[in-house]
Amino acid sequence: MKQTITCVVNGNTVTREIEQNMTLLRFLRDELQLTGTKEGCGEGDCGACTVLVDGLSVNTCLYLAVLADGKEILTIEGLEQNGEMHVIQEAFIRHGAIQCGFCSPGMIMSVKHLLDENPHPTEEDIRRGMSGNLCRCTGYQQMVDAIMEVSENK
Ligand code: FES
Ligand code: FES
Repeated sequence: MKQTITCVVNGNTVTREIEQNMTLLRFLRDELQLTGTKEGCGEGDCGACTVLVDGLSVNTCLYLAVLADGKEILTIEGLEQNGEMHVIQEAFIRHGAIQCGFCSPGMIMSVKHLLDENPHPTEEDIRRGMSGNLCRCTGYQQMVDAIMEVSENK
């Protein structure tokens, strides 16, 4: 069965008629062509599909798009401002915290949520905040270093 939803995605209001069982991940990637949000496990384990919904981090592979009706969604594509990358993205690059990049959009959105909630986290807070996101190639220390730098400059 289909349902019409309206939500704000990266500052733009969008309305679509969608199947009620469509995940937010498929909605973003297939309906809106926002392919920065990745599908890893599809089961809520890897965090590659993380975006913010009304400021909360959400695994979009487990979240029905109809639940986003009337909500504000921020994806990795919405982080840049006036052609400039977000400070978290810049810090990840500076610290070599990206290799293949598959985990990076979800990881960075989780970090954004962490720093929005807690601008000056301890290393333990950071490791806990990243614990829902898996990276198979970079290792986590460079990411922790990048996040510490961003939080120290806040
Ligand atoms: S794809 Fe959603 S948590 Fe892995
Ligand atoms: S940079 Fe490759 S999975 Fe994280």
